[in-house]
Amino acid sequence: MGKRNLTVVLTFFVLLFIGIIIFLGMSSKHIEVYPPDFLFGTATAAYQVEGGNVNSDWAEFEKQKGAIKTGERSGRASDSWNMVSQDIGLMKSLGVNSYRFSVEWSKLEPEQGKFDEEAFDHYTVQIKELRQAGITPLVTLLHFTFPKWVSDKGGLLSEDFPELFEIFTKKVVSELGSDVDLWCTINEPNVMIANGYIYGIWPPEKKSQSDMVRAYRALLLAHAKSSRVIRTKDKNAKIGVAMNVVDFQAKSWLNPLDMIASKMVADAYDWSFYDSIKDGRIKFWAIGFHSIDEALPELKNSVDFFGMNYYQRKLVSFSPFKADFFELSEGSGDKSDLGWEIYPQGLLAMLRQSYGRYHLPIYVTENGVADKSGHKQQEFLREHLNMIDNALQEGIPVKGYYYWSLLDNFEWDLGFGPKFGLYAVDNDSFKRSAKPGANVYAELINERKNGRLQ
Ligand code: FCB
Repeated sequence: MGKRNLTVVLTFFVLLFIGIIIFLGMSSKHIEVYPPDFLFGTATAAYQVEGGNVNSDWAEFEKQKGAIKTGERSGRASDSWNMVSQDIGLMKSLGVNSYRFSVEWSKLEPEQGKFDEEAFDHYTVQIKELRQAGITPLVTLLHFTFPKWVSDKGGLLSEDFPELFEIFTKKVVSELGSDVDLWCTINEPNVMIANGYIYGIWPPEKKSQSDMVRAYRALLLAHAKSSRVIRTKDKNAKIGVAMNVVDFQAKSWLNPLDMIASKMVADAYDWSFYDSIKDGRIKFWAIGFHSIDEALPELKNSVDFFGMNYYQRKLVSFSPFKADFFELSEGSGDKSDLGWEIYPQGLLAMLRQSYGRYHLPIYVTENGVADKSGHKQQEFLREHLNMIDNALQEGIPVKGYYYWSLLDNFEWDLGFGPKFGLYAVDNDSFKRSAKPGANVYAELINERKNGRLQ
């Protein structure tokens, strides 16, 4: 063998060796993938857990016969308003270092311009207790509900809505901002408008595509204003919107019409809100809807992270006989108590897609499973945290993961039916008891904090 050939062969083996080392390095799990400041948390929303919510649009909605499928009322919910110190104790036993919760606008501003200082004190104490326990608060300003006086003015469709939300934000940030740096302006604007303005199953019970687009516009305007206020008052703030993302897939990969339909649905539902933010334009387009494209430069740089609420995959098929030309169905995987497919790979797919689209750090602001017994939670948590491991190994900057939910709670129009909690809550005594998922989550967090992944 000539000298030149020998060099080629040697170079080949050296490169092969390096390749194998890199491959092995990538496929084995090193704890270094978890940054020391990674946030492991649980999430709740004020209306669903606090109780005593009597002054909001949802409180009015609940009163109507048939509005809540189980016929229940939220009442004391999980009684967290009174039991929050105990709930922080539960968080400590899980070993979480963050808590995502929302502040209830209708309690803080029960009448326009009249703020309830005692209600502010309540959250101030809550945040102090969290901080003392080493738990970083992530505060959501609007998690579906707002005061009755706002809905009396027309809610999202009132011209004033963005400004009213801006005023509310200003007050919250000046009262609570010194101890809060992580903000979510709005939770799931896409779910809010779909359920409230297309399906008509949530307040304000409309079925109007043009109103839906108006509501969408109002939420973008409100977000832009709220974000600007937070930035001016809190220099360390990190801001995001929590989007409900569904892994929409074509029902048949061989059918190009299913492929087109699934992409259109994903673009409209999963991405249009953040696309608008990225481009500084209020944009929406979907077949059968009024489209909108209007400049709003304030949207640019109004977010620091992508908030991802991921629960499920849906299969999309093109359907010429439907008004919006598509139909959704479930995949073949295991189902939650709600019949939603458990599809962990979808979490990784959505992390990849959102990072590819926006290049923003990501907080998984919600991920969970309706599971009364808590047995499904165990596998669910393992598999979904595995997907976070993989995403981090790929270099996707995931900054935190919040399990929905800490407690069984009031699941909107489905009442107390679906049980997402790591802790069950007794309806009469409000006693909390750990479900099997709680121990597993504690173990999984511990492994990741201590570098013992496998
Ligand atoms: C999300 C909501 C949250 C809860 C979970 C199950 O869409 O943000 O409030 O209802 O679903």
